Amino acid sequence: MIAADSAPPLLGEAAGVAPLLEVRDLHVEIPVPRGRLHAVRGVSLRLQPGESVGLVGESGSGKSITLRALLGLLPAPAKIVGGTILLDGVDITGMPRRRRQRLLTDTMSMVFQDSLTALNPVMRVGDQIAEGPRRKLGRPASEAKRIALDLMAKVGIPEPDRRYLAYPHQLSGGMRQRICIAIALSTDPRLLLADEPTTALDVTIQAQVLEVMDVLRKDADLSMILVSHDLAVISQTCSRVYVMYAGRVVESGEIRALLQDPRHPYTFALLRSVPDPDAPVHRLLTIPGQPPDLIDVPRGCSFAERCPFVAPICVASEADPELVVLREGVDHASACLRWQTADSWDQVAAQSSIEGPQ
Ligand SMILES: Nc1ncnc2c1ncn2[C@@H]1O[C@H](COP(=O)(O)OP(=O)(O)OP(=O)(O)O)[C@@H](O)[C@H]1O
Ligand SMILES: [Mg+2]
Repeated sequence: MIAADSAPPLLGEAAGVAPLLEVRDLHVEIPVPRGRLHAVRGVSLRLQPGESVGLVGESGSGKSITLRALLGLLPAPAKIVGGTILLDGVDITGMPRRRRQRLLTDTMSMVFQDSLTALNPVMRVGDQIAEGPRRKLGRPASEAKRIALDLMAKVGIPEPDRRYLAYPHQLSGGMRQRICIAIALSTDPRLLLADEPTTALDVTIQAQVLEVMDVLRKDADLSMILVSHDLAVISQTCSRVYVMYAGRVVESGEIRALLQDPRHPYTFALLRSVPDPDAPVHRLLTIPGQPPDLIDVPRGCSFAERCPFVAPICVASEADPELVVLREGVDHASACLRWQTADSWDQVAAQSSIEGPQ
């Protein structure tokens, strides 16, 4: 087996294009009254220019903390305690704080889940979009307004001239999220970090907003990290995916490979929990138990306690198993020591009592 660090070339790498973003072995800790909560435990990610990758995992798996760490926006008192971040191949970890922050905010923008708290309630939405070009890009007010109106049309807001003057509470959730996307794009970022951008919206609006993001991304040759707890949403938009569990990446690779041939029991379970619209009876694999305590992580694989396919080897070592590439030249890695037994997982799950009709 090959360490995931020597992963096969990704889109563009063969042509010598450096990854836009490379994160190596990122660790984030949050001091809490009970001790130090290890929210992110050795996450590595790579993203080529123009690429869109997904970050998926259940609540508390460390998706938001990872994104915020990348943008230098961790909530106090959370801290990066280890790892390296490279932008265009340049290690920014040791840079003076202000210079690093400027580089990060010049390159990346973020869209959050909750548009109502992300927007300023007492400022017209159009002005909120124009603020980026005016303040950050130094454009004159009239040009900033033109850019804002243009972006409003691009994200699919009807009658931009009229809506420019609206306050956030006067717009629907879907429209507000489009405003947030316009704000994120207003400073010409190269990388969009989208944290559950459509979770708060109903399904039809969700699909429309995802579609808008996808078109804009391709138009502007933008890279994106899309966070979701829903693999179906990720598979609509992303070419690659990282599956997170308890602060670690447990499986990664090309999206189709993971969907068709999951090689970590956690991904397997996540896929079972995506209802198949064509199936006569939706079957849902509920994963019994809770994620581990991130202040006092148990020995061995963090998923072992909840894993339907657990074996003694899974808890034999002190640390979590490493993410390893499954086959040389293939973009698919798993942190399950027993990934080779995956062919039997369907059968085991079908026979066990953990699966049942939804
Ligand atoms: N401000 C904070 N103070 C203390 N613990 C926190 C704080 N923010 C996050 N955490 C903890 O860090 C871990 C990772 O949280 P994170 O918000 O990254 O999860 P997530 O994957 O984004 O979950 P969700 O899907 O619910 O958004 C969790 O255990 C969470 O409880
Ligand atoms: Mg989150």
